[in-house]
Amino acid sequence: MIEISDLRKTYHMGNVEVKALDGITLDIAKGEFLGIMGPSGSGKTTLLHMLGLLDLPTSGRIVIDGMDISRLTDYEKTMFRLYKLGYIFQDYALVPDLTVMENVSLPAMLRKRELSGGQQQRVSLARAMVNKPEILFADEPCANLDSENSKVVLELFREINETMHQTIVMVSHEDWHKEYFHRIVYLRDGMLDLARNQ
Ligand SMILES: Nc1ncnc2c1ncn2[C@@H]1O[C@H](COP(=O)(O)OP(=O)(O)O)[C@@H](O)[C@H]1O
Ligand SMILES: [Mg+2]
Repeated sequence: MIEISDLRKTYHMGNVEVKALDGITLDIAKGEFLGIMGPSGSGKTTLLHMLGLLDLPTSGRIVIDGMDISRLTDYEKTMFRLYKLGYIFQDYALVPDLTVMENVSLPAMLRKRELSGGQQQRVSLARAMVNKPEILFADEPCANLDSENSKVVLELFREINETMHQTIVMVSHEDWHKEYFHRIVYLRDGMLDLARNQ
């Protein structure tokens, strides 16, 4: 359901070029719970941003459900994000389909209710699930959680994946998360780490 071909993303920092993604080719099946792993700076977040239509690749192609997303208008992309995609982030604060004002007030609202980190992450999961998105993107959703709360979040992911057959693409660098993933794709220097991906 997601076909990625020779995806590249180069950031320019003054005169310096950073090849955050340097030619990724990968298919993700419908209903797959995919783990993306690799060292810090290997391009995991950048890849998730491209797949989640949150940023534009420099070159390459992403086809979701048979649709080349580079051909969508801005309006169509917004609709796609709203109705097909869900997002969970590490700091459970920034939600792309909210206005800036809502994004600013959501963490404050959550804090006022005195929710723990684990509870807040469950609230953001509930939020992300409201529209029953077909694909859920999660960027190190357990990074700020202890192992008990991380387990709760991972079990929830597993449950929604099994019951709703939702495709989940999750970035992680915790070894023990591996058992939850159907498949793991390792990145290194913006490329697939061929030595680790069998
Ligand atoms: N907005 C940006 N501007 C410039 N460089 C960036 C930006 N985002 C990421 N990078 C660089 O791209 C590379 C990959 O980053 P990232 O995708 O965040 O890696 P990971 O999530 O695996 O830690 C890193 O070298 C990082 O410094
Ligand atoms: Mg990252």
